[in-house]
Amino acid sequence: MTTKPKVAFIGLGAMGMGMALHLLDDGFVVSGYDVNPKALQILEEKGGIAASSPRNCATDASFLVCMVANAAQTEEVLFTVSTGAVFGLPSNATVILCSTVPPSFPGKVLVKFHVDLARPDVQLVDCPVSGGTVRAAQGKLTILCSGTSEALVAAGPVLDSMAETKYEIDGGLGSANKVKLVNQHLAGIHIAAAAEAMGLVASLGLSTKAFHDTVLGSTATSWMFENRVPHMLADDWTPHSALAIFVKDMGIVTTEGLVQGVPLWVASSAEQLYLLGAQMGYDREDDAGVVRVFLPKSPSLVYSAARAATSPDDPRTFELIRCLLEIVHTVAAIEALALGDSLGLSTRDLVRIISNAAGASEAFKRASSRIMAGDSTSGPNISETRCMLTDVALLAKKLRYPLHLAATALNLYDLALVRGLGSQGVDFHGRDSGKSPWIRT
Ligand SMILES: *[C@@H]1O[C@H](CO)[C@@H](O)[C@H](O)[C@H]1NC(C)=O
Ligand SMILES: *[C@@H]1O[C@H](CO)[C@@H](O)[C@H](O)[C@H]1NC(C)=O
Repeated sequence: MTTKPKVAFIGLGAMGMGMALHLLDDGFVVSGYDVNPKALQILEEKGGIAASSPRNCATDASFLVCMVANAAQTEEVLFTVSTGAVFGLPSNATVILCSTVPPSFPGKVLVKFHVDLARPDVQLVDCPVSGGTVRAAQGKLTILCSGTSEALVAAGPVLDSMAETKYEIDGGLGSANKVKLVNQHLAGIHIAAAAEAMGLVASLGLSTKAFHDTVLGSTATSWMFENRVPHMLADDWTPHSALAIFVKDMGIVTTEGLVQGVPLWVASSAEQLYLLGAQMGYDREDDAGVVRVFLPKSPSLVYSAARAATSPDDPRTFELIRCLLEIVHTVAAIEALALGDSLGLSTRDLVRIISNAAGASEAFKRASSRIMAGDSTSGPNISETRCMLTDVALLAKKLRYPLHLAATALNLYDLALVRGLGSQGVDFHGRDSGKSPWIRT
């Protein structure tokens, strides 16, 4: 077997370890660094090299993969005086930033390498990854990547080894994180929306399992609904993906909204739910556990209501709550596309990538194809949809059940009515009319 070049891998968490071991299996020489000695031991047992510092890890490596939790940790492992990876990195190495970070961050890292530390030889790509621990270990991740074409070519062998699907995003360094940000915007809202709907069904004493089955395959479903609601039904908070990650990622999303001047009504509302969940002590558990924010007095209610008896009246209520989910997803889709637009991303590219990613939903597919077709009249109009939301709001009020995302959506529909968009269909982002809640008039 021919030996492939050396890869320095920093950040051997659940996903990072899988990626590093896969690179080893694929014939790369892998040296690893992590603050957790146990992780280093595992890497060493599998044939990797355990390094004593990021600097030591990067020595003689052609590639440096950085898979730490966030931007602050990335800076720390790269640039800490004397132990930082940059001080071990040989000439012409390629640095691959895999963490989800604010889109402006990779550019700052590049300036640090090229200007502050006088290392113009270093190539840099940003490439947020997704797919979870199992796919990480199989080299079947989805990777978004951006950088100069030279840097992307240089990083190619490592990215191709780790990825099943690789999207090169135009627009230069940071663009991949812009797409990731829009995906996280949707994914984060979809989990929170699923939680709000499931909590409401449970609070009504209806069968949460039956409701779940009603939503699957309908226009109200989402990738996250299908993936996370089973955790809620099982009352299983094993952290397949920790709630803390969405505290971080929704924070990146809403900060970017503030920077861009794009009001993110729905994302901000979802962010509050994750913050509440973290305050309640759920941050290290699965993100689906955010459902307990809606049910503080009976956090297992979605599970216990799974076996509730069904009654002939259920279909009407189910349909109402299913519509609520679809409406929230639709508003989220429009908000996400408005955010993507302000970041300079093409709607067509976003749709192509996100329709196959964790941010996917049926509503996103429908809303985006209508928006791209310039169709603002088909489907239920804004007045009609607002009536439906009002019915749900009244239902929840009777139970004293707290609605967050639905309440935000209702406010948006009211705003759209005030702006005279009542007869319009789903596309009330009204780019042309300038009356969109996402455009400052
Ligand atoms: C780095 O790349 C430059 C430009 O391609 C080349 O001239 C130089 O020899 C390389 N340095 C090393 C140490 O490989
Ligand atoms: C919205 O649609 C409903 C049902 O098609 C219709 O009765 C109503 O007049 C419409 N409202 C507006 C403001 O266009």
